[in-house]
Amino acid sequence: MNFEYTEEHLAVRDAAREFAQAELLPGVIERDTEAKFPTEQIKKMGELGFMGMMVDPKYNGGGMDTVSYVLAMEEISKIDASASVSMSVNNSLVCWGLEKYGNEEQKEKYLKPLASGEIIGAFCLSEPEAGSDATSQKTEAVLDGDHYILNGTKNWITNGNTASVYLVIAQTDPAKGHKGISAFIVEKGLDGFIVGKKEDKLGIRGSDTHSLMFTDVKVPVANRIGEEGFGFTFAMETLNGGRIGIAAQALGIASGAYELALAYSKERKAFGKTISQHQAIQFKLADMATSIEAARLLVYKSAILKDQGKDYSYASAMAKLYASQVAMDVTVEAVQVHGGYGYVKEYHVERLMRDAKITQIYEGTSEIQKIVISRAILR
Ligand code: CAA
Repeated sequence: MNFEYTEEHLAVRDAAREFAQAELLPGVIERDTEAKFPTEQIKKMGELGFMGMMVDPKYNGGGMDTVSYVLAMEEISKIDASASVSMSVNNSLVCWGLEKYGNEEQKEKYLKPLASGEIIGAFCLSEPEAGSDATSQKTEAVLDGDHYILNGTKNWITNGNTASVYLVIAQTDPAKGHKGISAFIVEKGLDGFIVGKKEDKLGIRGSDTHSLMFTDVKVPVANRIGEEGFGFTFAMETLNGGRIGIAAQALGIASGAYELALAYSKERKAFGKTISQHQAIQFKLADMATSIEAARLLVYKSAILKDQGKDYSYASAMAKLYASQVAMDVTVEAVQVHGGYGYVKEYHVERLMRDAKITQIYEGTSEIQKIVISRAILR
């Protein structure tokens, strides 16, 4: 067992840290208040190679390992979880899904610009009546010559308006249940494809979350990913890796709040000494640091298993379950350490507390992670 980072890991972490401080921190409060997508910042993240980190360089990716990706996600999420969810969806769901299961033409046409960050992608599984119960897809794709005719609605889609390419999961044979679900690459701008309303959210307010409507959208057969009926497995496998990205996001949110609380505790004085000299605060900091470290080990372990080509589905569910709970607990405590200042925007921790909550909901709620874990244990 080796707990050392490589030189490359440290270089990636430092580059992400510097970028987050220099480019994401200024304006993060305004973007949250105004629910403004970080367009310029995401463009720069693409130029720096953060949008397709693990993709093979022959498809314009960074060719890095999952540990590097996790380190970058953590640093970006400490400062701006809205930017990091776009990064996570593009890397873990869209690029990974296309690189692993797309054919050569699909990779040339779609993966290359997605991995370089020239365009960004979205992953469309959730529906108004199919969130956790992902087998109950109502969106339908009916074969008609060399096209499928796509009809349905998708909800809660990250990068919903800013994406150019959408991976859409749809029923192609409802009688077959989850084995009748297929995955498609859908381009923005096709007739009948409408981007619906933007959600007004509690947290990650800078990310653009939209519903999408498809009415008789003609999707070429060439844009189906894998065989008909492969879509559910495609979605599940993609989400296994996506959960590592969201676990890293949760870890970053927790670490960011902890670092702010630690620094504040050394400055703020009460009863004649800094609050860091009061045991009530020391114990909070000790609990925060310990739970973050435990979450970090789970997140890194799931990344390492993925890099080693081993099964990481259950490890990534554990990492996401635990890190998202830690993000919630630590951010609440960070607000408490800040007292009244923690409750105002200027000190950042209230935003991190609001951002933390989504990590227990998207890419499978905590209850879904427990289903995945308990099934693996009992198998
Ligand atoms: N990895 C690989 N395959 C899996 C899998 C996993 N984690 N979970 C299930 N499967 C496979 C099963 O092996 C089975 O395949 P076979 O029939 O070939 O054996 C098939 O999928 C069906 O499995 P189940 O019978 O277990 O399916 P289920 O309906 O009982 O439940 C579930 C599965 C785990 C609850 C699943 O529906 C699920 O994960 N739901 C949550 C969906 C989710 O995470 N949505 C997030 C949306 S994306 C998002 O949030 C992105 C964003 O914007 C940030």
